Amino acid sequence: MDLKTTYLGLELKNPIISGSCPLGANLDTIRHLEDAGAAAVVMPSLFEEEIMGAARAQMEMESAGAGFAEASSYLPDPDGYHVGPDQYLEHLRAAKEAVSIPVIASLNGTSPGGWTGYAKKMEEAGADAIELNAYYLATDAGETGADVEQRTIDIVTAVKSEVSLPVAVKLSPFYSSIANLARKLEEGGANGLVIFNRFYQPDLDIEELDVVPNLRLSTADELRLRLRWLAILSSQVKISLAATGGAHNAVDVIKAVMTGAHAVQMVSALLIHGPEHITRTLEAIEFWLNEHEYESLRQMQGSMNMSKVPDAAKLTRANYMKMLDSWQQ
Ligand SMILES: Cc1cc2nc3c(=O)[nH]c(=O)nc-3n(C[C@H](O)[C@H](O)[C@H](O)COP(=O)(O)O)c2cc1C
Repeated sequence: MDLKTTYLGLELKNPIISGSCPLGANLDTIRHLEDAGAAAVVMPSLFEEEIMGAARAQMEMESAGAGFAEASSYLPDPDGYHVGPDQYLEHLRAAKEAVSIPVIASLNGTSPGGWTGYAKKMEEAGADAIELNAYYLATDAGETGADVEQRTIDIVTAVKSEVSLPVAVKLSPFYSSIANLARKLEEGGANGLVIFNRFYQPDLDIEELDVVPNLRLSTADELRLRLRWLAILSSQVKISLAATGGAHNAVDVIKAVMTGAHAVQMVSALLIHGPEHITRTLEAIEFWLNEHEYESLRQMQGSMNMSKVPDAAKLTRANYMKMLDSWQQ
């Protein structure tokens, strides 16, 4: 079965990509992902805060001499998941040498500034594409929705001006008009959209009166939001689309591709079941396609997007009343 797909101009042997997460932080695991069938791997993100923190620390060391102890507090923990810009680039180079599948670097930041120049360094280190994670929580009552969107568009433009690599933008679902933003990003030069970022909701410790991080892995239910928007966006933009969030098995991947995804990223499922989960998922996809007499994955790509489903209203608000009526105890 021909499972090939094109994502960000890259020819992928199948649609399953290992999404940005700690699995990409280890070379052996990256090799393992390739052996298991991953078509590409997205590296963990290099964060604006890490780049700017390291740059500040460097400046302090150079200008103050005696400031080393203070400056070193800015430096990210080298043993942790986030290792700092230099080690990141070194790891990226090593990953490119270790495997033959495309390696996508991930840059994570929200304010315009010099950190976007790291895209160039990622390109030099051999990245095949860049995933730009615009994880941003608009908390200032003075900032308008248009300002928030413009900020993302500006960052994409800045990164695109640095590199000739394809750039995908990982978006959150919290915009007032995602389709309009998608079109503006396409016009601004983005080569793809990764939908959607999961916002990790902090919890409260009521004994310590503190806010505590609480990272939960996804469930397959979360895919539905992605499916709806893949169906809506794929009928209106020409750039590549990848699903992230809630893809756990073969049926999830098939649904995402039918709604228009060119690639499907998996993270939670791989953290739970390990890289071999990709092998099993690919076998199941192939089996299903054969059973349903498809000749290739491409044949079903976008076959259930908004312009192709018999009743597009089922994807939009018109179905809201019917869905509420369908509730039975
Ligand atoms: C432990 C962990 C670390 C992650 N690190 C990153 C990251 O560095 N950059 C990023 O863009 N997304 C990161 N993500 C988000 C994933 O790439 C993915 O978008 C999200 O987990 C939803 O996909 P899933 O349902 O397949 O897990 C991380 C997720 C997890 C669980």
